[in-house]
Amino acid sequence: MRQQLLDHARSYYVLDTPTIPDAEYDALYQELQAIEAAHPELVTPDSPTQRVIGAVLDGLQPVRHVVPMLSIDTETDTTAAGAEKFDARVRKALGLTEADPPVEYAAELKFDGLAINLRYEGGDLVQAATRGDGETGEDVTHTVRTIAAVPKRLKGVKARVLEIRGEVFMRRDDFEALNERQRKLIEGGAKGEKTFVNPRNAAAGAVRQLDARNAVKRPLSFFAYGLGEVDGWTVPPTQTGLLEAFDAIGLPASPMHQRVQGAAGLIDFHIAIAALRDSLPYDIDGVVYKVDDRALQEKLGFKSREPRWAVAQKYPAQEKTTLLNAIDIQVGRTGKLTPVAKLEPVFVGGTTVSNATLHNVFEIRRKGVRVGDTVIVRRAGDVIPEVVGRIATRRKNYVPNFRMPHACPVCASRVVREKGGVDHRCSGGLFCAAQRKIAILHFAGRRALDIEGLGDKIVDQLVDGGLVETLPDVYALTQERLEGLERMGDKSAAKLVAGIAASKATTLARFLYGLGARHVGESTAKDLARHFGNLERLMAASVEQLLEVADVGPIVAESVHAFFQEPHNREVIAGLRRAGLAWEESEGQASAAPLPLSGKTFVLTGTLPTLAREDAKEMIESLGGKVVGSVSKKTDWVVAGAEAGSKLAKATELGIAILDEAGLLALLDAP
Ligand code: IVH
Repeated sequence: MRQQLLDHARSYYVLDTPTIPDAEYDALYQELQAIEAAHPELVTPDSPTQRVIGAVLDGLQPVRHVVPMLSIDTETDTTAAGAEKFDARVRKALGLTEADPPVEYAAELKFDGLAINLRYEGGDLVQAATRGDGETGEDVTHTVRTIAAVPKRLKGVKARVLEIRGEVFMRRDDFEALNERQRKLIEGGAKGEKTFVNPRNAAAGAVRQLDARNAVKRPLSFFAYGLGEVDGWTVPPTQTGLLEAFDAIGLPASPMHQRVQGAAGLIDFHIAIAALRDSLPYDIDGVVYKVDDRALQEKLGFKSREPRWAVAQKYPAQEKTTLLNAIDIQVGRTGKLTPVAKLEPVFVGGTTVSNATLHNVFEIRRKGVRVGDTVIVRRAGDVIPEVVGRIATRRKNYVPNFRMPHACPVCASRVVREKGGVDHRCSGGLFCAAQRKIAILHFAGRRALDIEGLGDKIVDQLVDGGLVETLPDVYALTQERLEGLERMGDKSAAKLVAGIAASKATTLARFLYGLGARHVGESTAKDLARHFGNLERLMAASVEQLLEVADVGPIVAESVHAFFQEPHNREVIAGLRRAGLAWEESEGQASAAPLPLSGKTFVLTGTLPTLAREDAKEMIESLGGKVVGSVSKKTDWVVAGAEAGSKLAKATELGIAILDEAGLLALLDAP
């Protein structure tokens, strides 16, 4: 057990990569303590119970603490009794009787980061060190100097020495953003990068970087809560006073502390913070109670490793281990497939968790997680529970690596992944029940089929009530059916039916955009419509043929191709045509010679004498030209009217051809 504890502690403190959750470490530690208490002859000096663990990482310089950095006693009883026991111990040690008034305490948060000693000389930050084994820590001045919250100079302090103790930590939002960035780096093929299990490890790793530049990439925060060596500074008589003094000299202290009376005050604080825990911007693993009066603290003194005047009371762990029973696939509203861990229910972060996200197939591979493994689950704050790793044990049976299904578990359409991307998606966007609502809303949108009155509230009701399954069903809606819906009078029902009918006469570009294929925005839809002229030709186009369209690259071509290859989507399109959707078709340019202005870029500026800007744009686009908003070296022509401003100046500067309205019309007329 000693060796196990030492190994886990090394992984945690030295390598910043924990192998078991804290709560399990604590349980193991307490078991060892109990065994040693029952068999004192078995206690050895190198037992983890006999010394503060945390060694010095190779490469960082050791720093001897003038005043040792002690640890703090943890009250394992997380109920009200925990606070009562502490208060009773304090009162007894101070020789107080029931007749005496309640002891005053400073109740604080227990931040889940790493303890740091900041040494200020003459008010200037001269050194920052980790706790290490309590006697000797590591010099991390170079990385701590990069933390914005740590002042390089204290306000109005000239003391020869003022050592500040506090916690370096990472906010949850900063942690999520960091891991998201790490995931992108890893997916992009970056070597030697990893995601972090939790904010504390990310913070500890950042502080203990040898190269400060690596630390800068990880946003860290700091709260002060105590003192080390002090020479030439008047220490306030209470802990509460100290925390207030920190603010005054420019050191950040958490405002979430409170001076409370006796055990009852501690219990109230514990309950109040438990309710707030999820909404805090950073992780806490408990609260800390300190006797407020420094004179009483001195009277109480120390046990071997910890002060008698302070105790930590923990909250339920935010990380636990449990069994991974299965990996399910969830299809999101936009068609993204997310692997979800089905867990043996486990109480973590204050709730019972039986599902946790695994992000994507690459994350699963990287974490080496397989069904049947014991995994570490993290649930902190409002963040979705997540599987952060596995406990490395030998698997009894062979378990295959997880694979993404080839067919969508909701609608059986083909599952695709973009080249270079990490997400798998269902390609049955129009058909898939998981994506129905978004597909209908998009289709009805102003830039698509523009169906007035078909907003999200109505779509929710239509889909949830089974009135609309796929897009063609929209065109089968009648006045009577609509009137049955909530908050739908006969007037609005009639209006919606009219809106639906009116949308049938449309353009190919609007229709294509409305289908909502991935990467087909309004402008790509226009390009496709113009190029192919009719839907059949577009649907039959190969990836190579799609690549011939101006501005269509491989990702768009693949996506369009996959979309039209999916039989479910073709069915929906056929249904829409049967419902009467129609548009003007044209020859297109697919086989014809390219348009005279294709590949040419225009910028319109100022007011033209007769042409409205929209008209000029349409005329240019009908000949294959493109109209963009700003002038660059790539611009071919700038069309300038009255009161043309900076764009005209820029064009002159870059030597770009400038046209007036007459010049534009002549160009458009040219054969
Ligand atoms: S006071 C002598 N106050 O908890 C008392 N510690 O085991 C020294 N911690 O490593 C600690 N929040 O990193 C104190 N408000 C707080 C704290 C706090 C977090 C950490 C600290 C230390 C550990 C105690």
